Amino acid sequence: MEASRRDFLSLSIGGLGAVGALGVLYPILKTLAPSAASSTESEIEIDVSKVPELGLLVRSWRGKPLFVLNLPKDLEEKYKYEVKDFSKNKLGKTNHEVLKDHRVFALIGVCTHLGCIPLWKPEGSDAVKAPYLHCPCHGGLYTPWGDNIGGPPPRPLYVPPQKVEGGKLVVGQKGFVEEIL
Ligand code: FES
Repeated sequence: MEASRRDFLSLSIGGLGAVGALGVLYPILKTLAPSAASSTESEIEIDVSKVPELGLLVRSWRGKPLFVLNLPKDLEEKYKYEVKDFSKNKLGKTNHEVLKDHRVFALIGVCTHLGCIPLWKPEGSDAVKAPYLHCPCHGGLYTPWGDNIGGPPPRPLYVPPQKVEGGKLVVGQKGFVEEIL
């Protein structure tokens, strides 16, 4: 009798754990369309007109989730982000310094702490009153350019090589970003 009660309790606790894990994973999985999770292409083209303003399109590039953002012109005037001093990419710059002349650009959508997939919060939140990227695993916070504004991630999101050509963003080719930063 005692054993079956214990079994019941451990099954119930295990079930709750699984539901909790699904709760965390669901928003992450939901941002990845099936095609987004499978492509290993070294070069992909994105029709810039298909990315709504303040929207985020998820694609896949070299087996990793790729975030394509379209930021409004006045975003920098409206919001001031407090970027951490250590937030520097391979060039020793912030991602914003590299990407600021481009309203549409791509970032690699993998948190630089332990590899979770951040969520796009275009409306901001109580904690960050501006559009931002939030990694739900341990509370990593990034600006829309992928620069660090909070939590444990030790560096900005990686930026893939990319260029604009004929209304398309071509990721995987040298352009305004020449290599992975
Ligand atoms: S994996 Fe993103 S904050 Fe830890």
